[in-house]
Amino acid sequence: MPTTSKRREAVLDIPLELDRSRGNQALQVHAALRAAILEGRLAAGLRLPSTRALARQFRVKRNAVVIAYEHLQSDGLAEARIGSGTFVALLPAPARRPEPAKSVPETVRPLPAGPFALGKTYADPQLLRRLAAVTRRRIMRADDIEFGYGDPRGNKALREQVARYLATSRGFVCDPDCVFVISGTQQGLRLCAEALLSPGDTVWMEEPGYPVSRRTLALAGMTIVPVPVDSEGLDMGAGLATAAVARAAYVTPSHQFPTGVTMTMARRTALVEWARASGAWLLEDDYDSEFRYAGPPLTALAGIGGGDRVIYFGTFSKILGAGLRLAYMVVPPAAVDAVIAARAGHDRFPPGIIAGAVAELMASGFLADHIRRMRRRYRAARDVVVSALEASAGGALSVVKPEQGLHLLALLPAGLPPDAAAVIRERAGVQAWLLSETCVGKPEAEGFVLGFSGHEVAELDAAAVKLGEAGRSYLG
Ligand SMILES: Cc1ncc(COP(=O)(O)O)c(C=O)c1O
Repeated sequence: MPTTSKRREAVLDIPLELDRSRGNQALQVHAALRAAILEGRLAAGLRLPSTRALARQFRVKRNAVVIAYEHLQSDGLAEARIGSGTFVALLPAPARRPEPAKSVPETVRPLPAGPFALGKTYADPQLLRRLAAVTRRRIMRADDIEFGYGDPRGNKALREQVARYLATSRGFVCDPDCVFVISGTQQGLRLCAEALLSPGDTVWMEEPGYPVSRRTLALAGMTIVPVPVDSEGLDMGAGLATAAVARAAYVTPSHQFPTGVTMTMARRTALVEWARASGAWLLEDDYDSEFRYAGPPLTALAGIGGGDRVIYFGTFSKILGAGLRLAYMVVPPAAVDAVIAARAGHDRFPPGIIAGAVAELMASGFLADHIRRMRRRYRAARDVVVSALEASAGGALSVVKPEQGLHLLALLPAGLPPDAAAVIRERAGVQAWLLSETCVGKPEAEGFVLGFSGHEVAELDAAAVKLGEAGRSYLG
C-alpha cells in the first residue's frame, strides 16, 4: 500500500525492481507494475503514487512513468480518475497465483482418522498429565547432557530402560550400548539400509505385509522381493525359490502384519539359521507385542539365538502415541559402529528430553501400568467390533479375532469381483485398509484390516454394524 504523509508523497512500499535490461524506462516501469498487478501484489482499487513520486522512487524520468501509466490503462489494468489519480483497475485480469499441486503425494496426505483407521491410540488423560509433568520438570532442570549435543544412539536412560524391558518382557537380553533411540521404525529401517546394506540389495518382504516399511526399503534403493506368508509365517521355501540370495528379510514374527499369524518356532529357527549361513540381516519389526490378550508373551526372534543377525525394532507409537515419534532398535554389537556413523551423519543424534521423560515413566512403573490399562481398553474395543461384525454380517465376513495387537481382519468369501471390498468399504463409510492394499500382488482372499484402538467404542460398534450390513447386502 502506498504510505501517505503530509511532507512526502506516497510511494509503493512493496518491493518492485525494474529490469534495467528491458527496453526503455517506460517499458521497464510498465513491466514491473503490470507483473505486480497480475500477481495480485498491487490490489484492485489501490491508488498508485503520483507520476512524480514514482519517478523519484524508481529513479527514472517522470515521462517514463506517465507513458507506463497510459500503457496500464490501455491494458485495462489501471484507470485514471480525474482529480484523484491513477488506480489499479477494479476488475483486473485474474491474479496469477502459483498453480496448486495437481495431486498431493500419498506420503504427505494426513492419515485417515475415521472409524477403523489404523495407527490411532487413546489419548489417556492420566498419561498426558504425567508425561506433561515429567517433561516440564526435566525442561526446567535440563543439564548440559540433555540440553546439549548428545550420543547418536540417543538418551542413555531410555536405552537402559528399553534393554531392561526387553529382557523381562521379550526374553531378549541386550546391551544398552546396542540400543538406538529412533524417531519411528521407518527411520531405523532407513538407517540400517544405509549402514548395513547397499543399493540394489535384495530384501525379502512379507506378502501381504506392512506397506509403509516396504516403501521405506524401496526408497532406500533395496530390491523388494515379496515372500508369501502362510499359517506358519513367512514361507522361507518360497523366498529361496524366488530369490535365493537376499541380503535381508523384513519380518513381523510375533504378530504378522496384517494377517496376525504368529511365526512358528520351526520357521523362526530356520530363518535365523538361514540368516547366519547367508550373512543376511533379519529386520524384526515387533510393533505391538505389548498388547497380548491371551497366552504367554512370545520370545522375540532376537531372543532365540539370532542376536548376531537380527536388528530388532520396537516402538512407542502404539503404547503412547505416534505423534511422539519415539521408537528404538537394537543392533548386533558388530553393527553398532556403522549404525552410529550413519545416525550421526543425519542430524547427529535424536532429541533427548521426551526420551528422558519416557525413561522416567518406565523406571517408575507408570508405563507398565499404562500398558495394562490400555490393554484392557483395547481388548474391550476388539470384542465389541468382533461381536458387532459377526451379528451384522450374517456370514458375509469371516472375522479373525486376534490374540494380540490393535487391528483385526475381516475376510470376504473368494470369487467376488475385484472391486467388491472397495465398494463395500465405500458404502459403509469406514476407513479400514483393504487387505489388497497391503499386497504387491493379488491376495488369495480379499478383506478389511480394521484398526480398533484409539476410537470411541460406540463409534466402532456403529461402524462395525455398517460394514457388516454393507457386506451382507453386497453379497445379497
Ligand atoms: C507393522 C508396523 N510396524 C511399525 C509400526 C510403527 O511405526 P513407527 O514406529 O514408525 O510409528 C506400525 C504402526 O502402525 C506398524 O503397523
